[in-house]
Amino acid sequence: MSGVIRLQTEIPGPKSRALLARRNKAVPRGVPAVTPIAVVHAEGAVLTDADDNRLIDFGGGIGVVNTGHRHPRVVQAVREQLDQFAHVCFPVSTYEPYVELAERLNRVTPGSHEKRTFFVNSGSEAVENAVKVARFFTGRQGVVCFEHGFHGRTNLAMALTAKVMPYKKGFGPFAPEVYRIPFPYCYRCGEAGRVPSGPGTREAGGVSGEAGSCCMASRERLEQIFAGTVDPDSVAAIIMELELGEGGFVPAPREYVDELAKFARDHGILFIADEIQTGFGRTGKLFASEHYGLVPDIIITAKSLAGGLPLAAVTGRADVLDAPHVGGLGGTYGGNPLACAAALAVLDAMEEERIPARAQRTGDRIKARFREWADEYPCIGDVRGLGAMVAMELVTDRQTRTPDKAVTARILAGALARGLVLLSAGTYGNVIRVLAPLTADESLIDEGLTVFGAALEAAAGRAPALA
Ligand SMILES: Cc1ncc(COP(=O)(O)O)c(C=O)c1O
Repeated sequence: MSGVIRLQTEIPGPKSRALLARRNKAVPRGVPAVTPIAVVHAEGAVLTDADDNRLIDFGGGIGVVNTGHRHPRVVQAVREQLDQFAHVCFPVSTYEPYVELAERLNRVTPGSHEKRTFFVNSGSEAVENAVKVARFFTGRQGVVCFEHGFHGRTNLAMALTAKVMPYKKGFGPFAPEVYRIPFPYCYRCGEAGRVPSGPGTREAGGVSGEAGSCCMASRERLEQIFAGTVDPDSVAAIIMELELGEGGFVPAPREYVDELAKFARDHGILFIADEIQTGFGRTGKLFASEHYGLVPDIIITAKSLAGGLPLAAVTGRADVLDAPHVGGLGGTYGGNPLACAAALAVLDAMEEERIPARAQRTGDRIKARFREWADEYPCIGDVRGLGAMVAMELVTDRQTRTPDKAVTARILAGALARGLVLLSAGTYGNVIRVLAPLTADESLIDEGLTVFGAALEAAAGRAPALA
């Protein structure tokens, strides 16, 4: 079969191995090397490594290149901006790409109310700033977050993140006034017996599933949870990933989000939607909030916002965002002109190339294949996700649902050896997620899935593993 994968050496090849050896002497081991390849070029959904191997990228730089590597519009916009200037510092001098991008995000994010946007450099920084603004506006200190949630690696973002290893172990003390409540993870819910389970029997996560299937989606249950956690009237904000990202691609059921949003409103709590991984077309809509009819008070974005350049945004109600005093918000690099120009090109591509709709089609294709595999391989316990934010959860046994981290690792290694970059996720490291560029055409997705299928077959013991 002729495809885009072209392997000239084993993976990693000698040049990748040599750079990794230098890396290990120059860079602390705490910064992980999820794959051992050294990349010299990336285009669309294809990576070329230092040994001239061509691989398919189903990781997309962890959800950063929804528009593909080096989207021509992004490359051109950055070049043109670089010919003008690269930095003047927005708090010092105003420039149009920043203002225009703020205007566009105010327009395209959910809700037609008046909004404001400001920019920072990373997802973690957006999280910190959203909470800072929410605390200022409400005069309250508490922040409610979720089990299995991931919000970043700075001190407050780390406190809001659930998973201990590797994100929190040994890194305390953590920021105070953070309260964690259960995420409606139907597949692993304590009352899982109440929902039909197993691949193919439902849309896991339930956005398009049966009404009433989520045992946590009631006012009474929310009140019980808060009664043992924190006084809701002292809470500034609830921060939520509508579909968990690092936590394993678990979409919250719609009825749960409806109840939670109502609960928040009744208690004067701001709803912060962390759309850093769900954003920019990934779920089949520009923002996951649109699947829920949710209008968050604050929505934070990063990753695919600028097609590969570092940029993050805090967008929200004008009265909330305008509350802090002059000088209370900002930063040296936030809203860098090159990144803003790139983000404007990303938004153009999203609209003109109808990328969210493409994501839905690609996601349906991937999910259909995952479901076929689930009928064949008992190690696949669940298949789920909105749009192209798709994952499978691997278990040793469908009855006990014991996470199978080992088979997950074998599939990832087998895929890489065959030329496909795949990423894991999940609190127990037993989820394989797909973050392929949304611009990838069907034949490339199919080629990637064929490799995935071969790795799965080998990892499940049905075919010989590659040496
Ligand atoms: C949902 C979510 N929030 C926040 C972050 C932190 O973003 P960054 O790594 O840019 O600080 C991430 C990163 O993976 C994320 O997925």
